[in-house]
Amino acid sequence: MYVDPASAPARKPVTVPDLRTMKAEGRKIVMLTAYDSSFAAQLERAGIDVALVGDSLGMVVQGHRTTLPVTLDHMVYHTAAVARGLSATLLIADLPFMSDRDTAHALEAGARLVGEAGAAAVKIEGAAPHILDAIGALVDRSIPVCAHLGLTPQSVHRFGGFKIQGRAQEAADRMLAEALAVQAAGADLLVLEGVPTALGERITKALQIPVIGIGAGPHCDGQVLVIHDMLGVTPGKRPKFSKDFLAGRDSVAAAIAAYAEDVRSGAFPAPEHCFN
Ligand code: KIV
Repeated sequence: MYVDPASAPARKPVTVPDLRTMKAEGRKIVMLTAYDSSFAAQLERAGIDVALVGDSLGMVVQGHRTTLPVTLDHMVYHTAAVARGLSATLLIADLPFMSDRDTAHALEAGARLVGEAGAAAVKIEGAAPHILDAIGALVDRSIPVCAHLGLTPQSVHRFGGFKIQGRAQEAADRMLAEALAVQAAGADLLVLEGVPTALGERITKALQIPVIGIGAGPHCDGQVLVIHDMLGVTPGKRPKFSKDFLAGRDSVAAAIAAYAEDVRSGAFPAPEHCFN
């Protein structure tokens, strides 16, 4: 059923600078993925702060085993669809695999996702030198950037699977250095995925920019989940860091509202969703 976002109560649009204010004020940021206009409208009605068009769409929408087959055209198509369902919720879109292989390609991808599809910011994985250059170049051209560290899915083959990152002291120290580097390069926020709770807390405290966790513990400035995981419709086993918010509730709207409430109150993630 189509839900007209115009029927939702008016809400002040969430901006990129608002997210830093929310961190400073200790207000948790609620982020959730969306891939189409109908679900985007559900996020809008629930007052979700940030919608992420993740390249996770390759897995949960297209049925691939990894995010690697997702192309820039796919991302532009889904981002434009999500943009049509939103009004106040901030929209961030992923730079897909290899669209950030050099600064020129990253700028081209950012221009399409923001200029053509309607995102307000783009997300980019890693902290390699060419990624730091791309972050600086995007920000210089007024495209805000969300960095992404930890279990970055585009590096699945290098990691040897979807494995928790930063468990060893040396790896944790390196990830903190990378987080400081993406911040220094100009990133406006950071998604931190699949790391021990203690490292999530350490990085969140060390950064001025907001840190949004997914499997990174309760101390992050906000949380993000893949919507299919939190509605319990992802085929196979639900990831440990997620929770089925539809279980025991009678609608998608109620599930999304419960997720937002639990993130804002700090009830989610609970210890069973976290890693040591
Ligand atoms: O692609 C995606 O949905 C993501 C989130 C899991 C953070 O990157």
